[in-house]
Amino acid sequence: MLQQTFAIVKPDGVARGLIGEVLIRIERNQLKIKALKLIHMTQSQVQGFYAVHKERPFFSSLCAFMSSGPCVVMILEGENAIARWREMMGATNYKDAAAGTIRRDFATDIEKNVVHGSDAPETAAFETGYFFNALERV
Ligand code: RTP
Ligand code: MG
Repeated sequence: MLQQTFAIVKPDGVARGLIGEVLIRIERNQLKIKALKLIHMTQSQVQGFYAVHKERPFFSSLCAFMSSGPCVVMILEGENAIARWREMMGATNYKDAAAGTIRRDFATDIEKNVVHGSDAPETAAFETGYFFNALERV
């Protein structure tokens, strides 16, 4: 099934010069980039994005981290794009992530885990709409 998903290179990935590395992996894995920009979110913009996590103990730390510097936000498209992008990212905790995944190769912390990916079609639709308007997508 042709799907779109929403992806982020998080502030740790941008600060460490990993944008190119992530983009190379996306293109090599035949996911098409349909939208892309560099943004620096405020705390309240992050709170809106991660609203599903607002009761979690790590929420305030996560919002501080995600607003600490610029991120690259993207829409990716391909067959089963949601699952394929999450497979490329690896498990949330890089210590549990499979060999060859982005988080296993680059993450330094359960929070500073380099990339984000939508976890379902409904979250993908919300997240792509939160960051991109119609003129920003090809
Ligand atoms: P993401 O939404 O960023 O793609 O990551 P995910 O689905 O693998 O993980 P999720 O449970 O949605 O958590 C969102 C982000 O919150 C941070 N986190 N910190 N300190 C902690 O225990 C903890 N747990 C999660 C991570 O940055 C995680 O990616
Ligand atoms: Mg998630």
